Amino acid sequence: MDLNIAGRKAIVCASSRGLGKACAVALANEGVDVWISGRNQTTLDITAQEIQALGKGKVTTVLADVTTEEGRNALFEACPTPDIVVNNAGGPPPGDFREWDQSDWFSAINDNMYSAIDMIKRSIDGMVDRGFGRIVNITSVAVKLPQAELGLSNGARAGLTGFIAGIARGPAQHNVTINNLLPGFIDTDRMRNVVKAKADAANKEVEQFSDTFFGNMPAKRPGDADEFGATCAFLCSQQAAYITAQNLLVDGGLYPGTF
Ligand SMILES: NC(=O)c1ccc[n+]([C@@H]2O[C@H](COP(=O)([O-])OP(=O)(O)OC[C@H]3O[C@@H](n4cnc5c(N)ncnc54)[C@H](OP(=O)(O)O)[C@@H]3O)[C@@H](O)[C@H]2O)c1
Repeated sequence: MDLNIAGRKAIVCASSRGLGKACAVALANEGVDVWISGRNQTTLDITAQEIQALGKGKVTTVLADVTTEEGRNALFEACPTPDIVVNNAGGPPPGDFREWDQSDWFSAINDNMYSAIDMIKRSIDGMVDRGFGRIVNITSVAVKLPQAELGLSNGARAGLTGFIAGIARGPAQHNVTINNLLPGFIDTDRMRNVVKAKADAANKEVEQFSDTFFGNMPAKRPGDADEFGATCAFLCSQQAAYITAQNLLVDGGLYPGTF
């Protein structure tokens, strides 16, 4: 299916690896020109070469920490008028909330809530003026299925989710949509680290732990990053113009609720 976004411009935050990269690849495959970002130029260059090799959309690397003002300035200097913005950043560490102080909370809120809000603030009015815009925020299944040790993530991402619910309807009449994409367990470096930490905590070998862990999930496997990227690209399509203010789980059925 042609998603009708060839030639559009996308800033994809935190996209040298993992979920962000998968979104950038899927968008570039649709002929979208992508600005990919991360904090390591070598990793960015490797990913840029992979995207270039697809022979579809153009790729530009931006060495930028998206959680800083300077990083976001760099992204908008490189791509001042994006049609698509995919918000993403590294996730906060797990832990016991009794050990987190104000600076831990402020970091999580900055990285996983405020940074996305600032990216939206910088891009949305231009999208409205041009009559096309797609904003996708990568959050987490933890928004709907919180885990105690991921308190920083649960809190900051729920804050972003509430903010989005408040602003997402306004620009709908201008063909500008804002949606949140909630990964469950998608096979990336971060997911492998999380699974390893769980295996260590359970005093099990990673392979043995993973068999049971994923075996207990409805899909019996982790998600593939390409599956996640394809969902993001669809949300950015012309066809998805009537989908906004949604929280879409990509979790293989992990979240057990009706809504
Ligand atoms: N994978 C999952 O199953 C899953 C599930 C729930 C939630 N999530 C959340 O989804 C997000 C992405 O996860 P992932 O699995 O793709 O992680 P990942 O495999 O660790 O990849 C993270 C990517 O983001 C970049 N990055 C990290 N912090 C950045 C920053 N401050 N500025 C710019 N780039 C940054 C990294 O590059 P550099 O390190 O070189 O900058 C890398 O390209 C995280 O917030 C994670 O908590 C993931």
